[in-house]
Amino acid sequence: MVVLVTGSSGQLGQSLQFIAGNYPDVHFVFRSSSELDITNKANCEAVFSEINPDYCINAAAYTAVDKAESEPEKAYLINVIGTKNLAEACQKYSAILLHISTDFVFDGNKTTPYTESDIPNPTGVYGQTKWDGEKAIQAVFENYFIVRTSWVYSQFGANFMKTMLRLASERDSLSVVDDQIGTPTHAVDLAEALVSIIKTTVLNPKNDNYGIYNFSNEGQCSWFDFAQKIFEINKIAIAVTPIPTTSYPTPAQRPKFSVLDKSKIKNAFGIAIRNWEESLIKTT
Ligand SMILES: NC(=O)c1ccc[n+]([C@@H]2O[C@H](COP(=O)([O-])OP(=O)(O)OC[C@H]3O[C@@H](n4cnc5c(N)ncnc54)[C@H](OP(=O)(O)O)[C@@H]3O)[C@@H](O)[C@H]2O)c1
Repeated sequence: MVVLVTGSSGQLGQSLQFIAGNYPDVHFVFRSSSELDITNKANCEAVFSEINPDYCINAAAYTAVDKAESEPEKAYLINVIGTKNLAEACQKYSAILLHISTDFVFDGNKTTPYTESDIPNPTGVYGQTKWDGEKAIQAVFENYFIVRTSWVYSQFGANFMKTMLRLASERDSLSVVDDQIGTPTHAVDLAEALVSIIKTTVLNPKNDNYGIYNFSNEGQCSWFDFAQKIFEINKIAIAVTPIPTTSYPTPAQRPKFSVLDKSKIKNAFGIAIRNWEESLIKTT
């Protein structure tokens, strides 16, 4: 079984490389942005023709949430056109697409966890382009898994955990917002969940599980709680002050509440999900 991974230098891409050795029956082929530019249709076709994958995990994306507000065309090109190119290549070469989306497709006005059937209403360019990317896939074919996730961090790449650890080495105190509630997702746990989807699908060729799924770690917290736990686990003594979002204005508006309900993915694929604190301990 051949699994092509796009965007292999990102957090999720590196996490998939990290676990690939645990799955000797899966032949992973990793392509970074310099080896496969998903916005280039001819490039996508050439890579699919060469590799002929059974599955494609799209770990490539434009993920700069605030910067997207000032460069919407670039975010659209990667998150919508690039995603559409991959869906079309998957359709042409009979591959199944696993695509990653985001909690930022929601406006955050709910107070209970978002299910897959809740209607998106993005508050910023990044979330809008991710939702448009989902719709672009759905317009091409049905053989897709769209996995919405939230607050991704890992030992790889740039993320909130690494930013907190860097800031703690530079400052004596920090202020972190405490009125945005969500759930951190360890990218390695997400990578494992994606492989579980593939393994289940291989065993059930008459697949009727295609569609949208939520995945994050279990539990919920604020960014302030997340920061405090990062420092506690790493035994870093630093004063952390909780502040409201209004005291930390950013170009993109973020959902106040974006906890994801994971019942569907757990039931469909038998995935056991760790609590976010437990996964954080294992990362550091
Ligand atoms: N990070 C989060 O908190 C978060 C939250 C919810 C959902 N997600 C979703 O989770 C997925 C994985 O995110 P991540 O954190 O792993 O992102 P990431 O670390 O920013 O990695 C994204 C990767 O995509 C690559 N890329 C950008 N443009 C490309 C193109 N035209 N062709 C091919 N590759 C391209 C980047 O390569 P270069 O570095 O070379 O540009 C980078 O390696 C994304 O779909 C993201 O939207 C992330």
